[in-house]
Amino acid sequence: AGDATTPNKPKVVVCRHLGPAMPQLERRTDIDLVCWPEDRFCDRAWLLHNVKGATGVIVLLGDAVNEEFMAAAGQQLKVVSTMSVGYEHIELQATARHGVRVGYTPDVLTEAVADLTVMLALMAGRNDGDLYSLVKTGQWGNLAWSPFKLCGPQLSTTLSSPKRTVGFLGFGRIAQATLARLVGFGVTHALYTGSPSSNAQSVLARDAELKTRYRLQGLERVDADRLAQESDVVFVLTPGGKETYHLVGEAFLRKMKPLSILVNTSRGSVVDSDALAKALHEKWIWGAGLDVVEGEPFIGGDHPLVKEPRCVILPHVGSATTETRLDMATRAIDNVIGGIFGGEMPSELK
Ligand code: DGY
Repeated sequence: AGDATTPNKPKVVVCRHLGPAMPQLERRTDIDLVCWPEDRFCDRAWLLHNVKGATGVIVLLGDAVNEEFMAAAGQQLKVVSTMSVGYEHIELQATARHGVRVGYTPDVLTEAVADLTVMLALMAGRNDGDLYSLVKTGQWGNLAWSPFKLCGPQLSTTLSSPKRTVGFLGFGRIAQATLARLVGFGVTHALYTGSPSSNAQSVLARDAELKTRYRLQGLERVDADRLAQESDVVFVLTPGGKETYHLVGEAFLRKMKPLSILVNTSRGSVVDSDALAKALHEKWIWGAGLDVVEGEPFIGGDHPLVKEPRCVILPHVGSATTETRLDMATRAIDNVIGGIFGGEMPSELK
């Protein structure tokens, strides 16, 4: 299909059918559209063949955009638009070297991911992954109601535990939306780690405003050690990549409280899976809720984290609501169209 395009019309390659958003591209008469025809990750050989002569490409997580991709595409390539907020699969040095603009989909998925982040904190604390599968396999009979059986740490404050501290590794849009939800659970203190380059004045003003708005007793930027030591729930919400690789490793996990929960809804590479499996197995922490795991999606039933009963694992579905995915696909399309015609891209990575 990639060879049969019309001269003068920009060619747009899409690495996965975009479902209900696809007509936004299909009805355009000013582009030549080429779409990977299967509902699985785009085959690399297909992509490298079809990207030849493309002006714009819509990619997903897992479609590596690197020098090989650039060479296959050719000099006319103007824009790569990823249907994701994360962009570790795009080598920004390579796109910059070739003058290719990059689009991504921040903001539109913030609320969906924050919803799921809180859900995982609740599920992990109450051991819901394991209990749910026991009920599903007909074992409720072995789970008779008993005063202190099947109990876990509570996310919300209680009479006997009036203080709750949450910690965020990374305090961007999704972390702040998660905090907004947690306030409803009575969370009293929030800690976070942030990039050292953040502008101190505006960060202080923002924190003062958030603290007042959410009536928090404390909101503080701290180092990772203090965050690990004091948090009842640690939320991993920092971007992936080399700088954050295994930020949560054995040293960090050993500092966490025995009744604490680790939730990761950002990138699997931030958490050392072996160290986390050990932490759960040896009960350094209470439980974990993961939407992402390093090496995904090739996580089999024998993976050490899958075998841990207090580890709830979901297959990277943080943004998987119909509404959000439609907004993400639309944003990816608007970015690619803006890029190929030299116009404004609603979310351009600078
Ligand atoms: C993203 O957009 O980067 C998410 O991880 C996928 O939903």
